[in-house]
Amino acid sequence: MTREPDFNKMTLSYIFAPDGRPPPMSERTQLCTLDEITDLVHGFYARVRADGILGPIFDARIDDWPTHLATMVRFWSSLLIGAGTYRGSPMSAHVALPGLQAELFQRWLALFHETTASLENHTMARRAEDYAQRIARSLWFGYQINRNPEQPPSEIPHG
Ligand code: HEM
Repeated sequence: MTREPDFNKMTLSYIFAPDGRPPPMSERTQLCTLDEITDLVHGFYARVRADGILGPIFDARIDDWPTHLATMVRFWSSLLIGAGTYRGSPMSAHVALPGLQAELFQRWLALFHETTASLENHTMARRAEDYAQRIARSLWFGYQINRNPEQPPSEIPHG
């Protein structure tokens, strides 16, 4: 019997694919500071909230923004500097959202790119961008497989 991957249990180690290993800890801890991550997260969600398409989707779901922002700082710190402070299940959080589409992920990525493009720390910007692309693709695939298992999954359009 073959085992289907359980997308609801997507963890950070799954995100670190393709080889399943994060960059060495010494490389990660020097990548950026917690303040830089906080600025990235706050800058990005300020753009999201001001966006005519994504803003209402987030505002309908999130009534405690400081808590969400703190979760997202823990998430990005765990990815970028190996903080190990994030515990959660991004896949199930997104599968629970009605009506997600490839174009919404494309928009999310465009706003994220706008934010990273303004960072002075280019190495951090590249690493964050790379994670965002891979995680967005994983979330969109998992979303489709959970919600529409009969349909072949589509990719997120480029640009
Ligand atoms: C169409 C694109 C997206 C939309 C509309 C979206 C929307 C949301 C919303 C509304 C929540 C709050 C869920 C809740 O608390 O009930 C959330 C949580 C979250 N999102 Fe997204 N998201 C998108 C893409 C992404 C991407 C690409 C990433 C990662 C790179 C991401 C990472 C997260 C994480 C880590 C959480 C917290 C989950 C937890 O509670 O632990 N999201 N998202």
